[in-house]
Amino acid sequence: MSNAASPEVPLWIRTWTLVSSLVVIWDFGYCLLRPLSMEGGSLNFLWKPYNLYAKELKVQQDPKKKHHVTIPLTYKNTAFMNGIETLLNFTYLGLLKSGQVNVGQANLVGFSAALMTLSKTVLYWLIEPFSGYQHIGHNSLKDLIILWIIPNGLWIVVPAAIVYTLGKDLNHRLDVNSKQD
Ligand SMILES: *[C@@H]1O[C@H](CO)[C@@H](O)[C@H](O)[C@H]1NC(C)=O
Repeated sequence: MSNAASPEVPLWIRTWTLVSSLVVIWDFGYCLLRPLSMEGGSLNFLWKPYNLYAKELKVQQDPKKKHHVTIPLTYKNTAFMNGIETLLNFTYLGLLKSGQVNVGQANLVGFSAALMTLSKTVLYWLIEPFSGYQHIGHNSLKDLIILWIIPNGLWIVVPAAIVYTLGKDLNHRLDVNSKQD
């Protein structure tokens, strides 16, 4: 049974995809609409929780480096890639809901989106260990845990679990198909 393709996508996958996509949009709204979204700005009421804590990690700036790696969330290239990912995420949820395609076909979209999220987050995360923690090493442990380890960890562990679960489902469907040929 555990090897069989599942007729239904587990609720935790659908919930995470929806909730995390909304969180990402909310976070990007904050970055894109600065300074209006910041404390004192006219749109700050939408981002009140950001005021409760430091808004972002203090990232060491080195004026000599032109293409300094700061928090990629503020970069347009990341925003662009996130846009594609969000589109895939909502396409996945839409396909599941509409029933226009079978679950396996929808899962191919969900699998691809989760793999994108996973590799992007791992890449982002590896910048620090491979650079001797030079950009974030000066932050307090508490700041690091709340603003770096937990969010990145969550966006690695959950997409990895989705890749595994949906990958197993797709693998089974392909296996069954090839045996019918
Ligand atoms: C897309 O969905 C994945 C889960 O598959 C989630 O981790 C990620 O945050 C979502 N990405 C965006 C940009 O909405």
